[in-house]
Amino acid sequence: ARTDQDRAKQAAADAALKEFVRDGMVLGLGSGSTSLRFVRALGAAVAQGLEVTAVPSSTTTRELAFELGVPLATFAEVQHLDLTIDGADEVDPDGNMLKGGGGSLLWERIVAGASDRMVAMVDPSKTVERLGAFPLAIEVVRFGWESTRASLERTLAALGHPEPKLVLRTNTDGSPFTTDSGNHILDAHLGAIDNPLELDARINWVPGAVEHGLFTGVAKAVVLGRPDGSHEVRD
Ligand code: A5P
Repeated sequence: ARTDQDRAKQAAADAALKEFVRDGMVLGLGSGSTSLRFVRALGAAVAQGLEVTAVPSSTTTRELAFELGVPLATFAEVQHLDLTIDGADEVDPDGNMLKGGGGSLLWERIVAGASDRMVAMVDPSKTVERLGAFPLAIEVVRFGWESTRASLERTLAALGHPEPKLVLRTNTDGSPFTTDSGNHILDAHLGAIDNPLELDARINWVPGAVEHGLFTGVAKAVVLGRPDGSHEVRD
């Protein structure tokens, strides 16, 4: 059955298409269930004559976009994108986000980083006063990941998160989850993040940590969808 959250995600995806996508754009496509709804809406618009080119941020998104006939490009063909539309796991009032619930954070950041503008689509469950109830995903290379975890624990403790719990993300069969780039993910259960900018910088200093799900200063607008089909744009 369709839940209120499904309806809100659909409203956000439809509104993002209507409010931000224009003919001729090169688009970055996000990952996760809201982004897949956006890709379906985009596919329908392309079938109606909308002309865009898209760079996907995960193999899952690429497969759906391909199936729907959305013209795709790789970074070998385009290095500059007009706009990336993506979901998020949490957004604070300043537009800082936690992403990575779906494990595509590294490619998502590369795609967003290549774009003039990034717009985040969220449902009401994602808007928070303070980030951190959702675990912070940290992508780490497989080599030495246990040592990287120990370094990250020290870094997080020094930043005021005593005894941080970093959990290796696993698949349903218990095997370690592997990203599209062949890395692992450690989920840091922090409870609250008071210093997103400092945390962002410090995690990137740890050898073996490739990327993390804290996106500060990336989203230029947030589209909030609601279960009744309405939406609000926050710039
Ligand atoms: C993927 O790695 C994430 O960053 C997603 O953008 C995030 O998990 C949002 O997912 P939903 O749209 O499924 O809530």
